[in-house]
Amino acid sequence: MPDTPFSPEMLDSLVQKQDILPDCSLWLLDIRKLPVLMPEDIVGILHESSVIRYSELSRKQRRIQFVVGRLLAKYAVSRLQDRPIHGLALIERRSNVPQLRAMPPLAAPLYYSLAYRYDHAVCAISRSRLTGLDIEVVDKEREIATPAETAFNAHENAWLSALPSDEWHRGYYELWTRKEACYKLLSSKHGGIHDDLFWQTDCLADNRFEWKTLRQPEDLLITVCQADPTVEFTLTQAPSYNPDNAFDIFRR
Ligand SMILES: CC(C)(COP(=O)(O)OP(=O)(O)OC[C@H]1O[C@@H](n2cnc3c(N)ncnc32)[C@H](O)[C@@H]1OP(=O)(O)O)[C@@H](O)C(=O)NCCC(=O)NCCS
Repeated sequence: MPDTPFSPEMLDSLVQKQDILPDCSLWLLDIRKLPVLMPEDIVGILHESSVIRYSELSRKQRRIQFVVGRLLAKYAVSRLQDRPIHGLALIERRSNVPQLRAMPPLAAPLYYSLAYRYDHAVCAISRSRLTGLDIEVVDKEREIATPAETAFNAHENAWLSALPSDEWHRGYYELWTRKEACYKLLSSKHGGIHDDLFWQTDCLADNRFEWKTLRQPEDLLITVCQADPTVEFTLTQAPSYNPDNAFDIFRR
């Protein structure tokens, strides 16, 4: 029995898929195009481990993003692996994307990342590369909450300052999405947040990583960051919890 009210054919018509980088597909969904989610739809999409997290989310838009992100990830995996969506579950982990569980199990791991901005949900999936993703809207009217000097290192700021003034905002958001995508990649690799490690990474010059930024309509900027799964980073602090324990999230 299907566990989502949205047929694969309907999602085929709504989700934009693009193949980018040597091994990465990007799946973008405009949430406004989906029918309104009913409570029974949400129960069908979410794994039981997601229900408490869902109920803790206070903003309506964030709740919808949370559900649609899981729908999008399951749909993308089902299409990539040519298997039914109801054989896939996403189990919550703290500070990471949910863990993908497939029945029958997948022959090899998949790496994926999720991000949202307003009415857009996006998922990047790779068969072979660690993957992190971020999406932003380049909005010149919106006040920038984190000054560039605080967000970026000296080399990144020098690059930003050298841009023509009418390209500054795009440059700021491109760097920002590179940082965030890299952060998610590192966090998924090491199972925790390593701020010191993150700040060591020069998001313009660190050749352990590859970034790709796409500009989309409505001033959307989407950046994927990838690295080889065998890549080693020097950790200066240990993860503070077990990322493989799906229920760690309930012990906050
Ligand atoms: C964790 C963080 C990356 C999330 O970014 P965000 O803009 O709030 O949210 P996004 O929409 O981009 O992404 C949310 C999704 O990312 C995934 N995610 C969250 N934390 C993650 C982590 N530590 N590692 C990998 N993926 C993570 C989740 O799937 C989440 O969606 P879900 O809650 O529905 O499962 C961000 O809040 C953060 O802490 N960044 C730290 C780095 C930093 O300081 N950047 C600023 C300077 S450039």
